[in-house]
Amino acid sequence: MRKIGLLTGGGDAPGMNAAIRAAVRTAIYFGLEVIGVEGGFSGLIANKFRRLDSSSVSGIINKGGTILHSARCPEFKQKDGIKKAVENIRKENIEGLIVIGGDGSLKGAYVLQKKGIAVSFIPASIDNDIFGTEETIGFDTAVNTALDAIDKIRDTATSHERIFLIEVMGRESGFLALEVGLASGAEVILIPEVKFKIEDICNVLKKGRKRGKRSYIIIVAEGAGKISEIGKEIGRRIKGEVRTTTLGYLQRGGTPSADSRNLACRFGAFAVELLKSGESGRMVGINKGKVVPLPIEKIYRRRKRIDLRRYQLAKILSL
Ligand code: F6P
Repeated sequence: MRKIGLLTGGGDAPGMNAAIRAAVRTAIYFGLEVIGVEGGFSGLIANKFRRLDSSSVSGIINKGGTILHSARCPEFKQKDGIKKAVENIRKENIEGLIVIGGDGSLKGAYVLQKKGIAVSFIPASIDNDIFGTEETIGFDTAVNTALDAIDKIRDTATSHERIFLIEVMGRESGFLALEVGLASGAEVILIPEVKFKIEDICNVLKKGRKRGKRSYIIIVAEGAGKISEIGKEIGRRIKGEVRTTTLGYLQRGGTPSADSRNLACRFGAFAVELLKSGESGRMVGINKGKVVPLPIEKIYRRRKRIDLRRYQLAKILSL
């Protein structure tokens, strides 16, 4: 292998830059040439390639976002788009491609692998919902960003004796909601993986009231329902006011934490090592502290399960 490509796809995650840096510098260490693809899978289709050297990745380990930019790419779901991407990779003489991203990008990497392109996949997503790895790059940072915001809302909720519903990201999964819910001492956590009834939430509030509790934090994962509607319904039933806050995209930005950066360094280097040693079609993951290779074709369709014991624990501790 002489030349590798590198792209970041889907929603950005803090630590993607640290992963780019690690992959570029490891590749250079092994004497490989590195091509950066601009704008994720769309860049493959539009031929947006640029050479990366050691200095192109200096000063980025501490930066959020991705210097290669990212995009959602519906064209890559079409035959023509895939064909064009494969042609461009071949024309550029890219012999191995590193894809950094979330579950959509993992599927994209699988498609390319099936078309005969050697790929290595690095999981990076604030959702932490990728099967096979205990953690994705960016998750720890997003947890801490959201937690900081929730702690601030807790201050005003306590002062005004209010009920707050706080929406955190996670369209299809509740990993972020559960993690910040437990860490913030939220009274209720709503995630898409666990069905809930408004009545049960109201009972928690009523029981708390009886014990003299006056303020509440309810964490709602994006995919669990609309906070405006849930809030309205709770307010109607308890005949009280409910405030709502959506944390939104601020959770995706910011300085990556030490954990996100170090995971990115380890993943980035290992992804290159895999390609160099001729092992392709692998995702790098972390398992019991060790970085491991996982076959993409066996994992890309699987769903990571939420740890229900943690959900239960958060419930017990908020009583
Ligand atoms: O996958 C990361 C994520 O931030 C999800 O938590 C969220 O639902 C989604 O991306 C938002 O996507 P977009 O950036 O396309 O609005």
